[in-house]
Amino acid sequence: MKLLVIGSGGREHALCKKLLASPLVSAVYCAPGNDGMKNDGILLVPLAESQHQQLIAFAKTTGIAWTFVGPEVPLLAGIVNDFQKAGLKIYGPTKEAALIEGSKDFAKSLMVKYQIPTADYQTFTDLKQAQAYVAAKGCPIVIKADGLAAGKGVVVATDLPMANRALEEMLQGQKFGVSGARVVVEEFLAGEEFSLLAFVRNEEVYPMIVAQDHKRAYDHDLGPNTGGMGAYAPVPQISQEMVATAVATVLQPAAEGMVAEGCPFTGILYAGLIATPKGPKVIEFNARFGDPETQVVLPQMTADLAQVIDDLLNDQTPTITWRENSYTLGVVVASLGYPGAYTKGAILPDFSGFEEVEVTYAGVKKVAGHLTADGGRVYLVAATAESLAVAQEKVYQALAAVKTTGTFYRHDIGAKAF
Ligand code: AMP
Ligand code: GLY
Repeated sequence: MKLLVIGSGGREHALCKKLLASPLVSAVYCAPGNDGMKNDGILLVPLAESQHQQLIAFAKTTGIAWTFVGPEVPLLAGIVNDFQKAGLKIYGPTKEAALIEGSKDFAKSLMVKYQIPTADYQTFTDLKQAQAYVAAKGCPIVIKADGLAAGKGVVVATDLPMANRALEEMLQGQKFGVSGARVVVEEFLAGEEFSLLAFVRNEEVYPMIVAQDHKRAYDHDLGPNTGGMGAYAPVPQISQEMVATAVATVLQPAAEGMVAEGCPFTGILYAGLIATPKGPKVIEFNARFGDPETQVVLPQMTADLAQVIDDLLNDQTPTITWRENSYTLGVVVASLGYPGAYTKGAILPDFSGFEEVEVTYAGVKKVAGHLTADGGRVYLVAATAESLAVAQEKVYQALAAVKTTGTFYRHDIGAKAF
């Protein structure tokens, strides 16, 4: 099979690598991909995620067996609807189903209706009403832009001035444009965070192992929220019982609820959860693989990813297997300034001598023969080992041994597990 992956980040790099490792696969194309993928034999297609008709034409002329969509933006723009209309196979949710990520208000209503445990909340478009609600509830409290904001539309407000500022920026200052014209104000949930992803086909749910992301920019969970600064999987401090409860009380009813609502979900369903004393509670749903979760979950998968997706697209039951006594940990290297305005152009180190780490590239561009930083999150360095401590040591040793000027990374990825 020849396959097409849509997207350009580290998640897509990891997906392409895993698909290319399958004996069923002869070629993997990535549109638009990034220059860091080329060394792994991934074929770049110079088409943007938004060029649905050109992507459809490419898939037809190239004889692509099926397409996999990485990011949320093309999903919400209806790329799956368009490919299906053109008679092409594609794994991912329709734009109607992707609203589980695209509108926090939609996701919250679904959770309330199907009794999926989540934080108490209320939705607002009016600044005065939102501020009155926040004043009555008190802090800490969580303010979320309703629509997409690349992981940056959430403010955990520790005091009232901070909450009011966030509300003003979203509802009045239009910090996130239309995404922030409606906000969800949510109860703060205390507890350990984890990401539970599953392959979903209508009401069928096939869970993956859990991962833990690190959303804050700086060490010790300080600084602004980002798309994710590092991750590891599995997460030893999240019990099997907690995971089983999350599958039964969150993923399964969400999949069934989407079918009942007339927008069945087929694709990767991602639940962002907090392990509270009363069990797992949802803080967000995503309609796709997480980034950087994918880069640490896929190396743990012993099943053939291409076979799994092919089965899901062809009414077969997939078999999904995982490593035992093994952990993968990955650290994101980001451009200085990220998630705010950042400087581009840093020359990236060469990791070719470091056989025990795996590098997935995201915001990079080849300039005069050198891979250089061209985005916020630039690359991720991961290692797989028999213990989390060893995986962590391997990653940080490699990072310490190379020059990472112009970029920064967190030094405490995985610390919560110890
Ligand atoms: P989200 O984009 O919804 O995942 O939110 C970004 C980050 O904000 C999460 O990863 C959490 O660390 C934090 N967060 C979001 N919602 C809550 C909540 N209700 N209680 C506590 N922390 C939250
Ligand atoms: N790592 C969080 C996300 O992909 O949304």
